[in-house]
Amino acid sequence: MPEIAENGRTWLLSGPTSSYALHLTADDELLHLHWGPRIALVDAEALAVRPLPDYWPFESPLDGREEYPVEGGARFVRPALSVRTSEGRGTEWSFEAHETEDDELRLRFRDGGLAITLHYRMRGDVLERWVTLDNDGPAAVELLRADSATWTLPDRDGWRLSQLHGRWAAESRLVRSSLTYGEKVIGSRRGHTGHQHLPWVALDTDATEERGEVFGCALGWSGSWRIAVAQLPDARVQITGGAGYDDSGLLRLAAGESFTTPVFAGLWSDGGFGGASRAWHAYQRAYVIPDADQDRPVLFNSWEATEFDISEEQQGVLARRAAAIGVELFVVDDGWFGARTSDRAGLGDWKPNPDRFPGGLKPLGDYVHALGMKFGIWVEPEMVNADSELYRAHPDWVQHQTGRKRTELRNQLVLNLAREDVQEYLWGQLHELLSSAPIDYVKWDFNRCFTDAGWPGEADPQRLWVDHVHALYRLLDRLRAAHPGVAFESCSGGGGRIDLGVMSRTDQVWTSDNTDPLDRLAIQHGFSQIHPARVMAAWVTDSPNTQLNGRASSLRFRFVSAMAGVLGVGGDLAEWTEEELAEARDWVDRYKEIRPLVQRGDLYRLRPPEGGLSAVQYVLGGEAVVLAWLQAQHHGEPVPVLRLRGLDPTAAYECLETGEVHRGAVLLHHGLRTGLRGDLDASVIRLRRI
Ligand code: GLA
Repeated sequence: MPEIAENGRTWLLSGPTSSYALHLTADDELLHLHWGPRIALVDAEALAVRPLPDYWPFESPLDGREEYPVEGGARFVRPALSVRTSEGRGTEWSFEAHETEDDELRLRFRDGGLAITLHYRMRGDVLERWVTLDNDGPAAVELLRADSATWTLPDRDGWRLSQLHGRWAAESRLVRSSLTYGEKVIGSRRGHTGHQHLPWVALDTDATEERGEVFGCALGWSGSWRIAVAQLPDARVQITGGAGYDDSGLLRLAAGESFTTPVFAGLWSDGGFGGASRAWHAYQRAYVIPDADQDRPVLFNSWEATEFDISEEQQGVLARRAAAIGVELFVVDDGWFGARTSDRAGLGDWKPNPDRFPGGLKPLGDYVHALGMKFGIWVEPEMVNADSELYRAHPDWVQHQTGRKRTELRNQLVLNLAREDVQEYLWGQLHELLSSAPIDYVKWDFNRCFTDAGWPGEADPQRLWVDHVHALYRLLDRLRAAHPGVAFESCSGGGGRIDLGVMSRTDQVWTSDNTDPLDRLAIQHGFSQIHPARVMAAWVTDSPNTQLNGRASSLRFRFVSAMAGVLGVGGDLAEWTEEELAEARDWVDRYKEIRPLVQRGDLYRLRPPEGGLSAVQYVLGGEAVVLAWLQAQHHGEPVPVLRLRGLDPTAAYECLETGEVHRGAVLLHHGLRTGLRGDLDASVIRLRRI
């Protein structure tokens, strides 16, 4: 429960190890007080009476200290809220009331007809923040920008910024750099979260993997977005973020309309980058990911094996082989519907291709079930090929601008999901599809960015960007409610739509189209900074990796790489030898044994994937598992030992691979020898407390 000072103007929210405090001045300025270790209300009150600095007129003492900087008045920072009415731009709010409900604090402000409510809710040590804007005035209000929150860091020297950048097939690469004066802006203006940046940043001054303060923020929004990290002239740092990339207009709120921003969550940890990641993971498993206590099955996906050249019979062959190696969920990827024999046609027509599946999907689904597996399919509902029945019938259903080119990417156009008729069409098609066959799983793809995001005839076409995301969320929510047994995977050409928003309505995400097991280690290292292994799908595919870089690697290396997440197999099993299939079966069995640790345990990144040896460790109760990879061994450079984490130093642990018994203290302080050698070697080492 939020604590409130007697004067009703200072608030404190606390998690198990952290606190967050804010204060309203007599002039209704909402000032940030504290984000960091746990403090008491008296401490927050002491902070509240510290005077603001006395600046010359060229700076504002409010800058870098406000909870949610609006536009106008003595403020020179990037506004979190920018509003235009017929009278002009800016906001001058007055405080109306605070409310608490369970663990949520709401602060209500008003500027004329616009009601502005700031929301705060502690979830563990993660603080969720968002804003609602209600236009109860008689006239429309234009929201040029409406961020979810602005985060303020304490005064420290030498801030460092961590971010996850990338591109297609090279997502979530971690980089750290010193923050300098000015702004660092990341985001997406593509209509989806994007491969280019995960909507997350972390700031620290001197943290290591296991020690030091880390301040992180992550946005739960699956459309265009922006996070700006600013170091102000007096060196204070603020982070502001929300939906939409530009300031040119997010939404027009007609009289009576409301807008709720996505959640921008923040976490303070003093457990270093590793501690921060574990706290993010625990938060997502407890509050974001649906049914996170249920482990995800081992899947097979047909894409890399068969691409568009598929048939019921051939999928049946793959299904038999998949079942034989222990796969639990068989997924038919692209190519099963409409005229989809290549990426040139068929998107939009969500009916099985009668040449390929004469009896629909039910016979294959039944067959897969009879083999003891669940059955899944691939869809890309937000898209349409120009060569499709849907587009021929409704050319006006795509995003477009009158008289302008309709840009095709991968030969496809984006449906205007802001339109209700499009929403109803998709609901009808997908509901029917899920009712027509025993489908347990849907891989939901999104394979191009917005380009011509127009909506002819609509008074406020700009709203399409925001409404698309809301419509997607509603569609997923509705399908989940109508088909509670069906699990969903978020995919966007690999990792192009991974964020806390989509993760709250999907069961796992497709991390990257890059299935090379070595490239994957860096992608997974970045991904794990924020998201847990429980959602991180990873496939074992063929060697050499013909899709991408031609690298050849052993089945062992490929499996151990993919076993760090939700294991899948995506190779052409029809071509695998009996020996390979037998080895795969062993690895799948081994994965099932460590799965609870990987999917529900605490992650410790023992060594990052930079050159030589890298390793991660998962700990759950008295069990631990280490996954270690040696990229290349050089003569004269011994392979390092791995100092383990999260063990009981007073206990003994049995290695389930060798039967050896190790002292916890020895493993923690002196390390474990992996025995890895040569190039691209890997191993799984299981330990159980005895
Ligand atoms: C995207 C996905 C792939 C595959 C193809 C199918 O690229 O990321 O895994 O599903 O689409 O067209």
